[in-house]
Amino acid sequence: MSEWVKIGAIEVADGAVIAAIAGGLDLALCRVDGVLHAIADRCSHAEARLSEGRLRRGCLVCPRHGTGFDVRDGTHQGPPAIVGVASYEVVEDESGVRVNITPR
Ligand code: FES
Repeated sequence: MSEWVKIGAIEVADGAVIAAIAGGLDLALCRVDGVLHAIADRCSHAEARLSEGRLRRGCLVCPRHGTGFDVRDGTHQGPPAIVGVASYEVVEDESGVRVNITPR
């Protein structure tokens, strides 16, 4: 099952991260190499907001303790987090951005 939610027209520069809400979910939207990605905006370790982190080599790095999460699938890249975060499909077209709020 999938549930697509329209976020609308937003600007996310390449290499940037913004916070967004879709269907009641807090998301971190990140653009890497021109592609927009969406992962949960809560770190799996201690719930820091990942949208306040920075991108490094395709990972969004938690601002609190430094675990990186792959923006393509939410997998964690090392401790202290021991699990990844949810990731979501994103579609961008002339009408704006839509996110499938059913996790992959
Ligand atoms: S809160 Fe993100 S690594 Fe600890």
